[in-house]
Amino acid sequence: MLKKLEEYEKQIQELVIASKEDLENFRLQFLSKKGIVPQLFTAFRDVPNEQKKEFGQKLNVLKNLAETKFKELQSELKSGGNAIDPNIDLTVPPFPMELGTRHPVNMVRREVVSIFERIGFTVSEGPEIEDDWHNFSALNFPPEHPARDMQDTFFVAKDPDFALRTHTSSVQVRVMENQQPPIRTISPGRVFRNEAISARAHCIFHQIEGLYIDKNVSFADMKDTLLYFAREFYGPETKIRLRPSYFPFTEPSAEMDVYWGLETEADHRITKGTGWLEVLGCGMVDPNVLRSCGIDPDVYSGFAFGMGIERTAMLKYQVKDLRLFFENDKRFLDQFKAAY
Ligand code: PHE
Repeated sequence: MLKKLEEYEKQIQELVIASKEDLENFRLQFLSKKGIVPQLFTAFRDVPNEQKKEFGQKLNVLKNLAETKFKELQSELKSGGNAIDPNIDLTVPPFPMELGTRHPVNMVRREVVSIFERIGFTVSEGPEIEDDWHNFSALNFPPEHPARDMQDTFFVAKDPDFALRTHTSSVQVRVMENQQPPIRTISPGRVFRNEAISARAHCIFHQIEGLYIDKNVSFADMKDTLLYFAREFYGPETKIRLRPSYFPFTEPSAEMDVYWGLETEADHRITKGTGWLEVLGCGMVDPNVLRSCGIDPDVYSGFAFGMGIERTAMLKYQVKDLRLFFENDKRFLDQFKAAY
């Protein structure tokens, strides 16, 4: 009897079916009222007592197996089964699958990151929701600075202040708090400012900021690093100039322009007739910032810089409207296939 059970088990396990009829035959053979499984349950009554336990267990296994197998075969049949339709030619090549493109913002971010990685910068990231300390106070923003105004910053909560970060300099504060120099890092990320949306401004955009701190770092080091970047990114002949500027967290501060040219009418328009284009802000890290972050300004000095990714992409790909980067219109994105 026990041997018989095992044979049935094997038979069920190996069963393959091709049609509804096969499935129905299987059901009739094993599961219907007069089928094998119910019959075995009847036979169970006459099994000698000392075999009842083993027989009972095996019988239950068989019953479960038959039921699951039935359900499996049923759903297999519904979904078309494993059988291959002889009318389908499996050697025909598939339709070419259309590949997507990288978003231009990502393309620029990747390129800028790789340019700085090649000279030893690491990439650091931080939270998009920041406290007042990391976004403003540690960066030497005085309490009455207009950037702290609701008009410029999206506050998430007041007292304690939490806001959407307005720049990724906040990440650099976190790096300096956790690490002593030498520091060489760039921080790409999304930033938020409370601005009316137009072709030239958006309330969300992306930045890449850089930070370099060590002993004896000078303004000349900064200029050299930025020249290297400009030539890698805008071309080997690129000329740069630094104009004095102001940021609370750097002193002295500057804005870097690259020479764009004045050949076409578009050149005149983009450069406002000067031939030069502003591409990033930079400066020597203010000693107050170093001190706030636990770095001794008498021992270390450094520089920082920051650029908008969308702005950089607009220049590189001649995009006239910033809003295009956020709409994800496929017709716009498809134009970057060649660049990718
Ligand atoms: N954090 C500045 C901004 O958001 C950019 C900047 C970074 C300028 C570092 C100077 C040095 O505009």
